Amino acid sequence: MADYISPVFYDLLAVHSHVPGVREKLPSLLAGVRRSVLEVGAGTGLITTSLAEWTPAEIFALEPSTTMRAILLSRLAERPDLLERVTVLPCDAMGLALDEPVEAMLMINVLYALEPGYRRRLWPVLADRLEPGGLLVLTWRDGGPPKPRPMRHLDSRRVGRHTYTVSSEIIESDDERATCRYLYRITRGDEVLSEEELVGHAYRPAWEVLRDELVGAGYVRAAAPDGLLAWRRA
Ligand SMILES: C[S@@+](CC[C@H](N)C(=O)[O-])C[C@H]1O[C@@H](n2cnc3c(N)ncnc32)[C@H](O)[C@@H]1O
Repeated sequence: MADYISPVFYDLLAVHSHVPGVREKLPSLLAGVRRSVLEVGAGTGLITTSLAEWTPAEIFALEPSTTMRAILLSRLAERPDLLERVTVLPCDAMGLALDEPVEAMLMINVLYALEPGYRRRLWPVLADRLEPGGLLVLTWRDGGPPKPRPMRHLDSRRVGRHTYTVSSEIIESDDERATCRYLYRITRGDEVLSEEELVGHAYRPAWEVLRDELVGAGYVRAAAPDGLLAWRRA
């Protein structure tokens, strides 16, 4: 998990950020997927449970973080139908082991967490576990990492009498990596009940860098809606 993500705040914020757009755009891309799909970095399962509605395929949800995986399993525990169909893999992407290659793979908001050397080594590993012609879908935002900027408010959510607020600062960045500081605060009125500061890195490769890595690993680009990239194993 990126060092600056708070599992406590994750769902509260994610359901209002990338999740609605992904839920709108992914179903058409997955229309032909019937047998198996792997979600790399499934997090708390916000996309996993939707996946089960869009495709009849068996689902493999890979998530290395114990805290994120605990939330994912908690979500699945309430859905006996999904417990039949979703296998949770407690490893990171490089440690992926499957009995047979999958028909499709998803990486939703995971790319930014992958250090460049790791990312370059990962594409062939994933290709090896993907069926020939199989689909790889990534969320994607061009433009490189964000420029340094001071701490600013990102979002707030009410939970009963308390407010959950996240702010962030970009401390420094180069052509691919940004160092980010996140501040997670729970307040009741003016009283601060808890405050946690997390610092970590986010990676946003340039388009040419990512394209060359994927083409070099044997993927061919396919059509995808804005904000997503789709590739097929040659
Ligand atoms: C921003 S969360 C996205 C979670 C989920 N895909 C979603 O859209 O809600 C990124 C997830 O990627 C996972 N992750 C980070 N590095 C990873 C790696 N090397 N292999 C697999 N997952 C990783 C993190 O643990 C985290 O749960």
